[in-house]
Amino acid sequence: MSAVHKSCLIVLVGTAALWIGTSGSTAQNHGNKAPGSHQDLTDAKTWIQRLERPERIPGLKFNEVIACLNLKAGDVVADIGAGTGAFSIPFARAVAPSGKVLAVDIWAGLIDYINEKAKKENVSNVQAILAKPDDPMLPTNQVDVAFFHDVFHNTNDRQAYLKLLVSQLKPSGRIAIIEQEFDDPIAKTWDLPEDRITKDQVKSWMANVGFHLIGDYDIFEGANNPAGTGMPQRWFVVYARAAAADN
Ligand SMILES: C[S@@+](CC[C@H](N)C(=O)[O-])C[C@H]1O[C@@H](n2cnc3c(N)ncnc32)[C@H](O)[C@@H]1O
Repeated sequence: MSAVHKSCLIVLVGTAALWIGTSGSTAQNHGNKAPGSHQDLTDAKTWIQRLERPERIPGLKFNEVIACLNLKAGDVVADIGAGTGAFSIPFARAVAPSGKVLAVDIWAGLIDYINEKAKKENVSNVQAILAKPDDPMLPTNQVDVAFFHDVFHNTNDRQAYLKLLVSQLKPSGRIAIIEQEFDDPIAKTWDLPEDRITKDQVKSWMANVGFHLIGDYDIFEGANNPAGTGMPQRWFVVYARAAAADN
């Protein structure tokens, strides 16, 4: 297995620092654990406000994430559980003009919002996909990077989800997962223990689908996690197929 990358060169891309987001302090069941809560527009509006609260933006570190993922023109990125498209828009700018972002979510109200936002932002390479809780519904063999920020824990059968996801990626495709630290005090207010996951769990699910760790970044941990954003400490790992990881 190749060496695991720990640091990433920061590159500035043309992203306006405007789209932010994550949950408010009482936000629980923000995934498919309570699908009924995602059905009405009032709820979608509340979620949009939570995900786009201005203080959240610095804690998302779009440019750093883009650098860690080494995104470049022509890449196809699936932003799974895209929410309001906080990451989708800067990712789309990073992979333009020939690449695109598939902004995937299971919540129709958010899909509509992402489409409107992309139009307002003059970003034409975002394609929103209304997916199913157990299927990201990606076009087969097109996606270079599947990205999850504060989302993967929402999948019900994580192993089955990964198995399906890897069947949809390019052979060289990578999977990036950013998740809250299991014992983080903020994470504890957002999610029940069964809805929080560890790096070790991910490693084992990934091994079962033939994926190896190729990157482990601390850009959301300790002093690197900006104060005042209300965001929990988070780990950030990137996996690839064993053959791809060994290249
Ligand atoms: C906390 S929000 C994070 C949004 C975005 N990634 C961000 O960080 O700004 C979680 C999002 O994941 C979506 N989601 C939950 N379960 C999902 C699933 N199984 N597949 C795709 N999206 C899902 C929710 O509808 C919600 O928009």
